[in-house]
Amino acid sequence: MSITRRCVCPGSFDPVTNGHLDVISRAHALYDEVVVAVGVNLGKNGMFDLGERVDMLREALATLAGVEVVPFEGLLVDFCRARDIPVVLKGLRAAGDFDYELAMAQMNRRLSGLETVFVPTHPGHAYLSSSLVKEVAKLGGDVAGMVPDAVLARLRSRLGADPADPLR
Ligand code: PNS
Repeated sequence: MSITRRCVCPGSFDPVTNGHLDVISRAHALYDEVVVAVGVNLGKNGMFDLGERVDMLREALATLAGVEVVPFEGLLVDFCRARDIPVVLKGLRAAGDFDYELAMAQMNRRLSGLETVFVPTHPGHAYLSSSLVKEVAKLGGDVAGMVPDAVLARLRSRLGADPADPLR
């Protein structure tokens, strides 16, 4: 009997960055099936709605067989239980990520036994975050090479209005 090794890569992905794609591709190398779970972080204001974030990820990951992108609401542990996923895989950029990620990992294990595996992000992506990409793009900076081309196009179209307009 063969056992399918399955993990989830959760996040808000608002929008997906090349750092996220690096972590997901490494999850793909380690597990038979990877579910990219696109959730809502109650502590963050979104730029893109859930459907847009899912579309951007599906487009960016279209060539990776065995990777599925799924929106979710509610607790991650409930999502994983319903899909029989035993492991969360997340990237750690630097020490600043650790406290937040450790607390979530411990809470998820306490709630349902869901384990978490951390991989160190590629050093070339260590400074990348969706929040910084959005901030730089909003202020007119160039984020080419930090996000997939299709995301770059969406950012440009979303922020295409007058850069001096504080309400855009
Ligand atoms: O990319 P983010 O914003 O760090 O992703 C955080 C996310 C969406 C993965 C996290 O907030 C989450 O799992 N939310 C679902 C609700 C939940 O399970 N909360 C308890 C986490 S211990």
